[in-house]
Amino acid sequence: HSIDKGIPVNIQALLCDKVSQAMVAAGAPADSEPLIRQSAKPQFGDYQVNGIMGAAKRLGMPPRQLAEKVVEHLSLSGIAHKIDIAGPGFINIFLDPQWLATEVEQALSSEHLNLAPVTPQTIVVDYSAPNVAKEMHVGHLRSTIIGDATVRTLEKLGHNVIRANHLGDWGTQFGMLIAYLEQQQADHSAEIALQDFEAFYRAAKIAYDEDEDFAVRARSYVVKLQSGDEYCLKMWRKLVDITMEQNQRNYDRLNVSLSAENVMGESLYNSMLPSIVADLKQKGLAVESEGATVVFLDEFTNKEGEPMGVIIQKKDGGYLYTTTDIACAKYRYETLKAERVIYYIDSRQHQHLMQAWTIVRKAGYVPESVPLEHHMFGMMLGKDGRPFKTRAGGTIRLVDLLDEAHERALTLVKEKNPEMDAQTLNRLAEVIGIGAVKYADLSKNRTTDYVFDWDNMLSFEGNTAPYLQYAYTRVLSIFRKAGIDEQSLQGPLVLTESREAALATRLLQFEETLQQVAREGTPHVLCAYLYDVAVLFSSFYEHCPVLTAQDESSRQSRLKLAALTARTIKSGLDLLGIGTVERM
Ligand code: ARG
Repeated sequence: HSIDKGIPVNIQALLCDKVSQAMVAAGAPADSEPLIRQSAKPQFGDYQVNGIMGAAKRLGMPPRQLAEKVVEHLSLSGIAHKIDIAGPGFINIFLDPQWLATEVEQALSSEHLNLAPVTPQTIVVDYSAPNVAKEMHVGHLRSTIIGDATVRTLEKLGHNVIRANHLGDWGTQFGMLIAYLEQQQADHSAEIALQDFEAFYRAAKIAYDEDEDFAVRARSYVVKLQSGDEYCLKMWRKLVDITMEQNQRNYDRLNVSLSAENVMGESLYNSMLPSIVADLKQKGLAVESEGATVVFLDEFTNKEGEPMGVIIQKKDGGYLYTTTDIACAKYRYETLKAERVIYYIDSRQHQHLMQAWTIVRKAGYVPESVPLEHHMFGMMLGKDGRPFKTRAGGTIRLVDLLDEAHERALTLVKEKNPEMDAQTLNRLAEVIGIGAVKYADLSKNRTTDYVFDWDNMLSFEGNTAPYLQYAYTRVLSIFRKAGIDEQSLQGPLVLTESREAALATRLLQFEETLQQVAREGTPHVLCAYLYDVAVLFSSFYEHCPVLTAQDESSRQSRLKLAALTARTIKSGLDLLGIGTVERM
């Protein structure tokens, strides 16, 4: 057939190509979109063409008539065994099992499963972004893991990704923090005090509020720090470093690909701020208002229906979070040469970003051709439906959450494997516990709030990490029992049963799935896909004997499907930063 040997297929892209050609041949405008989608029900085939109605409307032609003409020109021989026209003008495509079989073989023999080369883009992804001298909390957990899964997916597809950890490392609070650190160092208790950031921060704030001398010193340190005083910078560095050491421990444990090199904190943009304010004034965008410098935006209105004023420099000369984000977007385009910028920040900061970016666009700092995307997410809720907090109402420290995950997973695996040694149990508990927490988050559509529920996420049933990790070990155990490894499988893959074809089709949709994740920044799409693969595998395995297949050739053929299943699940979990084990 017409497919080039050696290049694995993206079915959706292939069909898009073929149907586009047929549409043009049938007289549709050259830019009409075929809108190829995976069919939701088996009776609608494997893929459906949804773009006929739109094209027919533009032509002023009855859609079914156009559909018929398109089908006449559509050559899918060797690829599809049936093409139906349905409803008002949908075209349903049923893929040929023999073609699917060749494509599965192709995927198995390719190192990268089914990935075709993309035109690489430079993409900056802003994620994690915790604050100095503060504990990482659940909001940072979401940004960190959703951002990291997207980053890995973009890289897997061949993009050049720049990880930007927009650390909250600047602001007036540093005067107070430096003064307090100084005091603690004098008492030789700084090391201990910095073990617990919440307590450190609280104590610094109390000193600031109650001790006038301390407050005076703190304020003078802010000024000194801003003007590059060496002592203050050294103390500031110390706070930053200790925070990042702690964060790094969380990143490593979470299997998140961030490191110290990815820190591009707020302080990085500090030196750009005066010239940005001057430039915005010069462009007539910013004006003086009651001593402050303000940009009035017609796009946003306040309660009185008047244009909203966004302060970019305070009366006392201080800059704001928005000013920094304006500079930051400019820097990402000008200096990092970003072609696309993605921000993983919770939805409560949406208005803030929109204001900053409106100013960025008006000032011409980033051209419209470079998208600035806010991939927002909702909150993590407790079982009571309220924001997830400790019993005392405090924020939950990420370390404590991960420790609890480990403990709970340990209890589970101990029960299942009473014979196992302590070291293996601990390793298993970490992979399963952390995997469960990450997957619970990643598998939900990020735009909504979700309820954090230990029992659900650690269940071996349903769309959970343990279910997928277990499905993976199951395939490995089939190979162990068969006494054969993947490389030595021979003979052609033949798809005779509908369950085999269904599994094969889904396996071949790995790349389409990654493309969607890359486009929308929605790792839950990958989770749903992997879950689907595991469920289809399970039903295939139950109904189509593998180890006890009728003859050797069908045994080998079915083992090939199993091999691609294992590789797909493992690659998918890797992209989510979730580990797998050989046995559990
Ligand atoms: N540090 C901020 C916070 O904890 C998040 C920063 C997000 N990134 C940005 N470019 N504003 O809320």
